[in-house]
Amino acid sequence: HYHIDHATPEKLQSAIDAGATHALIPAYQDLASYQAEGGYAVLSDLRASGDWEAVQEMVLSSGLRGLGGAGFPSGKKWGFVRANAGPRYLAVNGDEGEPGTFKDRYYLERTPHLMLEGMLISAWAVEAERCYIYMRDEYPAVLEIFRREIAALEGVGLVAPGYIELRRGAGAYICGEESAMIESIEGKRGLPRHRPPYVAQVGLFDRPTLVHNVETLHWVARVCREGPEILSAVKKNGRTGLRSYSVSGRVATPGVYLLPAGSTIRDVIVAAGGMAEGHRLKAYQPGGPSSGLLPASMDDVPLDFDTLQPHGTFIGSAAVVVLSDHESARDAALNMLRFFEAESCGQCTPCRAGCEKAVKLMQADTWDQPLLEELCMVMQDASICGLGQAAPNPIRLVMKHFADEV
Ligand code: NAI
Ligand code: SF4
Repeated sequence: HYHIDHATPEKLQSAIDAGATHALIPAYQDLASYQAEGGYAVLSDLRASGDWEAVQEMVLSSGLRGLGGAGFPSGKKWGFVRANAGPRYLAVNGDEGEPGTFKDRYYLERTPHLMLEGMLISAWAVEAERCYIYMRDEYPAVLEIFRREIAALEGVGLVAPGYIELRRGAGAYICGEESAMIESIEGKRGLPRHRPPYVAQVGLFDRPTLVHNVETLHWVARVCREGPEILSAVKKNGRTGLRSYSVSGRVATPGVYLLPAGSTIRDVIVAAGGMAEGHRLKAYQPGGPSSGLLPASMDDVPLDFDTLQPHGTFIGSAAVVVLSDHESARDAALNMLRFFEAESCGQCTPCRAGCEKAVKLMQADTWDQPLLEELCMVMQDASICGLGQAAPNPIRLVMKHFADEV
């Protein structure tokens, strides 16, 4: 497994002393070194004489699922998009706004061409006319790397000039919701659309659009080059594949850890060097604030797609935040709801008014639990998108597992 090489204050200071005027660009694998180790050979072969259905079959058999958080089978999406007449587009979701998630950044700052080759293979598979990369502006180093490397790809003729368009997000969490992202790329305010129709049918500029998360595309390239077994052969606790856990909070060494998909919170903490000194595990957020909090007693559940549903939550983007006996679960849940209140796009009442009301109710000394449950029900059932539908999770899980605090 791997961990993040942090930009420490000392490193930043020495960069500033050396005259750095923009983002610190980490040492990453550029086009020449990626090609030297066989990069883009798969893409070139496929473009010359590939069968897209054979590639789709390989991606399906690897078990690769959407790593933005929803876990939708990646190969299946290709079929949905292809079922609709062209022109078609591809959009990469690089918004990575889920608090605690930083795996996409981790991969892009090291091996950006794996994502780029995965994107071009997927674009070839669905015959996309153009690729859009929607990248969050909070990752200036990644944006600079893309500017350089897309120009390099154009320079060697692997893509036509303008085939890949880089778009900067502007810091709105909701623009990571795929249909809001599409609105944003189209130049409009990022408001989620109703589904159906899915973006595979009516996406960018009303055309069928393949939307994939950054890490999903990274694995498309690896599966095509190394074979489906790199994922399908990894088994643990009845689960298959690998997950990139972004681990933060009270652990000794926060970072990105690539572990078997069947890993439990105990395994994740061990990978992250154990608990921070003086801290004992009290609770953990398995996958971003929308996944709420689980208690330390649930330390034997594999942190994977599907395994957390029976417990009222999900793994999402695997943004694991570890809380210790120094923290209050109730305060953490309030913090999460304040985040949703601030980030709600305001389009629908259950979410806009619901988040605001929940924050007020959660500030009472004793929570009015029946009223909060009623509110949660309305938000979950009647919100347009995942933000409002999942915002009740922290409230419900704290009422269930940390009743003494509320
Ligand atoms: P979803 O399950 O509704 O959709 C997943 C994907 O499958 C989408 O691309 C959707 O268009 C496609 N899809 C689903 N059913 C389809 C069908 N019948 N036909 C064609 N396409 C279909 O999930 P959603 O709302 O897109 O994502 C929710 C997840 O996003 C949550 O699990 C959350 O953890 C995660 N998330 C991740 C963030 C990050 O920074 N990575 C930020 C916020 C949320
Ligand atoms: Fe906007 Fe919230 Fe409604 Fe989603 S659920 S459309 S974020 S108001």
